[in-house]
Amino acid sequence: MNKNMIKMFDLTGKNALVTGGSSGIGLGIAEGLLEAGASVVLAAENDAVFEHAERLQKQGYPAHPILVDLMGGEEAVNRLMSETLSHFGDRLDILVNAAGRSGTAKPEEFPTDLYDKILDLNLRVVFLLCRAAGAHMISHKIKGKIINIASMNAFFGGTDTPAYSASKGGVAQLTKTLANAWMQYGINVNAFAPGWIKTGMTAPYMNQPGRYDHLFERLPAGRWGTPDDFKGPAVFLASDACEYISGCILPVDGGYLVR
Ligand SMILES: NC(=O)c1ccc[n+]([C@@H]2O[C@H](COP(=O)([O-])OP(=O)(O)OC[C@H]3O[C@@H](n4cnc5c(N)ncnc54)[C@H](O)[C@@H]3O)[C@@H](O)[C@H]2O)c1
Repeated sequence: MNKNMIKMFDLTGKNALVTGGSSGIGLGIAEGLLEAGASVVLAAENDAVFEHAERLQKQGYPAHPILVDLMGGEEAVNRLMSETLSHFGDRLDILVNAAGRSGTAKPEEFPTDLYDKILDLNLRVVFLLCRAAGAHMISHKIKGKIINIASMNAFFGGTDTPAYSASKGGVAQLTKTLANAWMQYGINVNAFAPGWIKTGMTAPYMNQPGRYDHLFERLPAGRWGTPDDFKGPAVFLASDACEYISGCILPVDGGYLVR
């Protein structure tokens, strides 16, 4: 391969923060960024973040764990940013917002506190982290990359997921707005819209034969996705290769959206 082409995707020397880096899609993305040469902070609220950082360090990758419960809101976000910047020597190039949660109930019975918690983590915290990272990148003249995680629910309505669907629609619109505002600084803001990916979040669906079969039949890829399916797309959206792409909601869905 041409050396300039390899360089375009090379993340050597780049510093990345990945929330939700202790499992599922966030962990898959973190591993992809590490494999492309980046240094990565894995942030999550559970101890698995230490186990994965240690496993990756043993493989020779610069992975660093930070334990943070992002339901702590602005204070937790500020602490995470400050610890991340201190670890990286005051330079952040890539932010991936993969921490998220779901919760299901009939809309007419949906509990207010559950609605608030889902919107807080999936949308408010994403905004707070984007704002902090964007301000840092602008003030340090860093041509940074921000990757958010929307969902197929940013395109379709759900049925028993009013909070989750509202949050993911919000993430898509937030991503487009930040892309508009920050492309002038050379900052690219994009989002993935994952289809059906095998993670802890979707495990309950995998155990429902009727639902699983219905979803499986609608997947042109003929299989559910895995966190590894995000490695290549994440390296692309975190690299110089996507310099002219911003505000894109990229489906990583095995073709689910177009069937
Ligand atoms: N799995 C899918 O099919 C699918 C589809 C569409 C969108 N998504 C989105 O992808 C993202 C990752 O989800 P996943 O499927 O990998 O599930 P997952 O449960 O494996 O990962 C969720 C991550 O968020 C972290 N997290 C949860 N609460 C947190 C908190 N309070 N503070 C800090 N971190 C917290 C968890 O530690 C974990 O690392 C989510 O935003 C989810 O909505 C997933």
